[in-house]
Amino acid sequence: MSSRMSSNLKYLFYPRSVAIIGASRTPGKIGYEILRNIIGFGFEGKIYPVNPNATEIMGLKVYPNVLDIPDEVDLAVISVPARIVPKVLNDCGLKGVKVVVIISSGFSEVGNVEAEHKLVEIARKYGMRILGPNVFGVLYTPSKLNATFGPMKVLKGYIAFISQSGALGIALMGWTFLERIGLSSVVSVGNKADIEDSDLLEFFMNDKNSRVILIYMEGLKNGKRFIEVAREVSKVKPIIVLKAGRSERGALAAASHTGSLAGSDEIYSAAFRQVGVLRAKSIQEAFDWARTMVSQPPPLNENVVVITNGGGAGVIAADACAEYNLNLMDLPEDLAAKFREYMPPFGSTRNPVDLTGEATEEAYGDSVKVALEDSRVGAILVLYCHTAISDPGMIARSIARSFIEARAPKPLVVSFIGGVECYEGLKLLNDLGVPAYPSPDRAAAALGAYYRWARYAGIVKK
Ligand code: COA
Repeated sequence: MSSRMSSNLKYLFYPRSVAIIGASRTPGKIGYEILRNIIGFGFEGKIYPVNPNATEIMGLKVYPNVLDIPDEVDLAVISVPARIVPKVLNDCGLKGVKVVVIISSGFSEVGNVEAEHKLVEIARKYGMRILGPNVFGVLYTPSKLNATFGPMKVLKGYIAFISQSGALGIALMGWTFLERIGLSSVVSVGNKADIEDSDLLEFFMNDKNSRVILIYMEGLKNGKRFIEVAREVSKVKPIIVLKAGRSERGALAAASHTGSLAGSDEIYSAAFRQVGVLRAKSIQEAFDWARTMVSQPPPLNENVVVITNGGGAGVIAADACAEYNLNLMDLPEDLAAKFREYMPPFGSTRNPVDLTGEATEEAYGDSVKVALEDSRVGAILVLYCHTAISDPGMIARSIARSFIEARAPKPLVVSFIGGVECYEGLKLLNDLGVPAYPSPDRAAAALGAYYRWARYAGIVKK
């Protein structure tokens, strides 16, 4: 691939101008909704609708052909029926467009392999890159670009999300908003005729707006290249893969969905493990891990401290820590003595540090501060069980205050267990940048995944 082609990829994320070919006058049509999202999400570059049957849409002048636009076009989004795509794609080439997103279905996913090859040929001829075909678009929050027909509202954040599934990708855009999870990007890769996961990994590796790369994957076209690229990218930032088709039935479903050869699942797992790729089993798990990784610094060393107000939660967390290879440190006497100041005589400093059911918000805030400030502690897991004598909102604020004030180079992960007030506490913590989960197991799993990555990247000290 020429260097012009690989450097053209950046225009998928930083276009100065976007043409929407097949911008429709009819609400509900894909070409209408994409234009609406581009405008509504606040894209600050030039927007050029293209449609030979219209003159004005949403107050914008419409051009009959991309060649009629009196300006350079960096990115074109094509949303016309498959049979017209080669013609408009060729026009894009003549125009000097750098990247084209082909929304249209009707190519290799339904057996039209030849037609898809033809698109790649056209693109190569002009040095253009293609995303798709058969995709729902691209979103990049730093450029305020939402060229998708998914939801318009997405929270800005640091997770780059690549999806091989259309409907699932769109649904997860909405779900992340509900869960208060911020995204830097959403890229629908569809049939991966040209741009595939490894190209995007290379871009996101150097993208300061993305801290974690999360991929929903059914199969790979070029597995060897993916592994080679992932090996390098994983040294810089975590890659989480939700690889579907784990079961025989799932693999069959993937084959008929995106034509992916799911491959032997064991081979994927082994290859991922070797190059530091973290494989998640579920959507929840993948985003749980990502939430901790984007908001927290990596672990400082192998010593984990658990702070709790309930013995039972502590025991569950201790088991989960063992399962996820987290090392609960034996507290040195001077450190144990500091924790004892914040607990009644019947508390415990055996790690889990048990502040007991009497723990107040001050006790939480102060003991978290002790753990944050002691450089022998590499990561902290805080658990809270709701009691009638404490207020989850106050506890959450107190923990967050210590975290923000300490600016410590280590991760803090929290779990609140209880009813509706706990949910409010969790929300508050997450909004303040402290990852918080409704069960100790999920919190420990997120920290465990972060450790796995940090060990691979050689960041965590023994
Ligand atoms: N250049 C630009 N626009 C053109 C055109 C051309 N040469 N020829 C026609 N158009 C216009 C049409 O007039 C229409 O605008 P209008 O509604 O204002 O009349 C618009 O382009 C769209 O064309 P239309 O024929 O109405 O197609 P459509 O919107 O019904 O379907 C697709 C187009 C791409 C959405 C459809 O073919 C498709 O592939 N759907 C599946 C998409 C999908 O699911 N992708 C994967 C998601 S993961």
